[in-house]
Amino acid sequence: MDGGKGNVDGTKGGMRDGWKRSGLSNVNSHCSLAEMDGYDISKLRIKSKLNSERQRSYDERSLSELTSGLSKCLEGYECMYSPGRASAYSPGSCEWNSFEPHPIFVDAWESLRRCLVNFRGQPVGTIAACDHASEEVLNYDQVFVRDFVPSAMAFLMNGEPDIVKNFLLKTLQLQGWEKKVDRFKLGEGAMPASFKVLHDPVRKTDTIAADFGESAIGRVAPVDSGFWWIILLRAYTKSTGDLSLAETPDCQRGMKLILTLCLSEGFDTFPTLLCADGCSMIDRRMGIYGYPIEIQALFFMALRSALVMLKHDEEGRDFIERIVRRLHALSFHMRSYFWLDFQQLNDIYRYKTEEYSHTAVNKFNVIPDSIPDWLFDFMPGRGGYFVGNVSPARMDFRWFALGNCVAILSSLATPDQSSAIMDLLEARWDELVGEMPIKICYPALDCHEWRIVTGCDPKNTRWSYHNGGSWPVLLWLLTAACIKTGRPQIARRAIDIAESRLLKDSWPEYYDGKLGRYIGKQARKYQTWSIAGYLVAKMMLEDPSTLGMISLEEDKLMKPIIRRSSSWTC
Ligand code: GLC
Repeated sequence: MDGGKGNVDGTKGGMRDGWKRSGLSNVNSHCSLAEMDGYDISKLRIKSKLNSERQRSYDERSLSELTSGLSKCLEGYECMYSPGRASAYSPGSCEWNSFEPHPIFVDAWESLRRCLVNFRGQPVGTIAACDHASEEVLNYDQVFVRDFVPSAMAFLMNGEPDIVKNFLLKTLQLQGWEKKVDRFKLGEGAMPASFKVLHDPVRKTDTIAADFGESAIGRVAPVDSGFWWIILLRAYTKSTGDLSLAETPDCQRGMKLILTLCLSEGFDTFPTLLCADGCSMIDRRMGIYGYPIEIQALFFMALRSALVMLKHDEEGRDFIERIVRRLHALSFHMRSYFWLDFQQLNDIYRYKTEEYSHTAVNKFNVIPDSIPDWLFDFMPGRGGYFVGNVSPARMDFRWFALGNCVAILSSLATPDQSSAIMDLLEARWDELVGEMPIKICYPALDCHEWRIVTGCDPKNTRWSYHNGGSWPVLLWLLTAACIKTGRPQIARRAIDIAESRLLKDSWPEYYDGKLGRYIGKQARKYQTWSIAGYLVAKMMLEDPSTLGMISLEEDKLMKPIIRRSSSWTC
């Protein structure tokens, strides 16, 4: 990556800016425009090598820091930084060199740049949607933390890290605000769901208004924002090799404040994080309260990311030790109790209930009758996934895309589990991908269940929006997971499907229907993360070495899982 002198506004002229505007500057800044259309694989390889070299210096530093005086326990995490071997995908082995810029790739870059938001002359983020045709703006004119992540990845991959740095610093400042809902003060570490830049044309001043959940529907604080912030800080550091940002006292403090919120001790008997409904991408009532997979997977990834960025001073060491302990417990819990495949399903189907004491096989007292009918047909002989939620007498058996992809990317899933998630995706392609990648969750809630679980939410009717709708933004996470598991052809297939519709349909926020055939009932057009998600997917497939920005290698020293079926009977 080119070290980051990029100009996100593309205001300066010249060939280099022209490339930047079309999103191709990272290929090679010295090739001619004519070469751009069918550009040369050797240049891509040079760039990949450069990436690896730059990343190596950061990794080596992280490694040496990690080894300086830390417990044996921690050494298990050293291998997470593995430059140059970010994926099981070997560049020479498959079709990555067949990438050709699609007309929609160029359009996507232009559309993404139209969504940029400036604060006092500096770009600080992208608004959620630039849908000028829509009458209601709602809060889509704000910069959402989670929505900005794919935009940030696109800018980083294109050698434009400044906007990402500005965003990280601006949100860090917002974290420092006193946050109140009515008379209740929120935890110091809470990061906003979104912020809005207010331009005063008369006074020529810019101010910021932030929403920490107090304006959101349901007034839920976004648990995912802080995790995405940490994950993005690592992506920035990894991609630029610029350690100095993560090392600033402000960033160190920001991380610690987020960690304090989620590592604090309470009444918990599980290492997972207890959450309110609607606290993540699914930001309204959808029955994800408890221990939603999306948050657990992001929590795991954020902990692993923080681990390599925290300084080893006295306070830092304390956090590091707590993180290591939590990661061990969390990975065991998730891999054992959230994992479902044919064998596990059969075990649960035969569970006894009302067991007491440590010898209980059915630890959460799941009643076999609560297994939904659809699952018996849905579960393939080969394949598996992390279920949506596990808590007392409650297994939410729904499949969720984001949690399963992030589980693969963070190596919360073991290599076998990662492959199984991909096997399931292939086996259930029509249900999960169909005519638009990819379902946010499967299946949809309907009738009585919809009434009870969503509170009759008219936006979340069956196969729409969060309730089984198809979200193009998830394409980038799907692509990254495919590359990591060595199955780029699955990503290629999904991207081809998305490409056939996204531009024509003006980049909708989501699609509706069992197969994802229809533009969503209330979907915005020119939804920024649909645009950025596509761009990142496309660029990542073109240059798989960029996967390292969002992927963490398996921790080889982490104890192998004891599968529930055996652990519960011993
Ligand atoms: C909706 C989505 C949420 C997203 C926001 C902005 O509220 O549910 O995930 O962040 O729109 O796009």
